[in-house]
Amino acid sequence: MNPFIVSGFAGSEFFCNRKQELKKLKEAFQNRRNVTLFSLRRMGKSSLIKFLFEKIKREADCIYVDIYSATNLEEMIQHLANAITNYYGSSVKGYLSKISNLIRSLNATLSYDDITGRPEIKIGIGDIKKQKSDLNLIIEYLEKNNKRVLLVFDEFQAITNFPEKNVEAILRTIFQECKNINFIFSGSNLRMMQSIFSDKAKPFYQSTQYMHLEEIEKNEYKNFIKNNFKKGKQSIDDSQIDLILEFCRRHTYYVQMFCNRLYSKEFKGNKEILIKTLEEILKENEPVYFNYKNLLTDSQWKLVNAVANEGSVKEPLSGVFIKKYNLKSSSSVQRTLDSLLKKETLLFYKNVYIVYDVFFSLWLKFNAILN
Ligand SMILES: Nc1ncnc2c1ncn2[C@@H]1O[C@H](COP(=O)(O)OP(=O)(O)OP(=O)(O)O)[C@@H](O)[C@H]1O
Ligand SMILES: [Mg+2]
Repeated sequence: MNPFIVSGFAGSEFFCNRKQELKKLKEAFQNRRNVTLFSLRRMGKSSLIKFLFEKIKREADCIYVDIYSATNLEEMIQHLANAITNYYGSSVKGYLSKISNLIRSLNATLSYDDITGRPEIKIGIGDIKKQKSDLNLIIEYLEKNNKRVLLVFDEFQAITNFPEKNVEAILRTIFQECKNINFIFSGSNLRMMQSIFSDKAKPFYQSTQYMHLEEIEKNEYKNFIKNNFKKGKQSIDDSQIDLILEFCRRHTYYVQMFCNRLYSKEFKGNKEILIKTLEEILKENEPVYFNYKNLLTDSQWKLVNAVANEGSVKEPLSGVFIKKYNLKSSSSVQRTLDSLLKKETLLFYKNVYIVYDVFFSLWLKFNAILN
């Protein structure tokens, strides 16, 4: 089996380090603190949460709710209800007795997914009053659970786009009363997450412990990569690992993907194969990148190219940068920059501007060289 996992969590043996982060999350739960977990996209939040679940499943019922696709409060509650039904429904024994009270009090209907066979409940549509009451019923149900509960809302920033008024206040009011439940609110859109948790005027202001998930520590990642190649009777030398980590900015998903592809080639340390593997990955993604191009204006495209070519840019408004890439005035670069940051094509991270998608950034850079 390829040890470099590129989706989800496949067990501790395929997971690199994160010991400190796990300890911190575990301690927060044991001391009944709620946590806000944020990081760049694809840095490893969801897998870290799944790993935490493994660690504390004996002391707590760990329920994971991804609300990425929820567009309003009602859908969020529906996701929550389903996550709970799934969680308690997965142990067939005692399932009905455990959950049927909740289903009854919510006036919901129960069905089973044709393909997966998983139980699903459907809550009836209603006004905001009904939604508040549904949410209260669900939370009360978990409050009465005989085991402690860790309730994780992943992609929590989605609530900032809900059309209902006062969603944050409604959630905060209900959540803050909880004694048996602790929460992790996880998300990747920093601007949105900050608007929820660090704006003085907002209900969730300073209500949780913050945790920013950084890149995996360099030596830990190096050893992890080296050992996994070795275990598979393959070999990679230190400078090649350094190159991968540098190319991928140590951004977890990209490192994993690069290593996964290399491993599937039964890598024996040939540098040409390493470069060829990267080229293959970039080539495969090309249709996506051409589509990015269609979605950007000429000046946006030009600026993205300039940033990618540099790798990272400290002062995009400086005369030197503007001249080098033949950009317009600094005020127009500022406007373009703002629009690209908003789209999350570019990112301001650790005091420099970079192209968010690592492979896209490399593709732009290599194509600039090839052209
Ligand atoms: N510590 C780790 N060791 C090895 N692989 C990891 C580790 N953490 C994450 N990964 C892998 O990296 C990829 C991204 O992880 P994950 O989906 O957890 O990130 P995320 O921050 O939740 O991303 P998103 O913002 O897209 O939801 C996955 O393929 C996962 O398997
Ligand atoms: Mg995730």
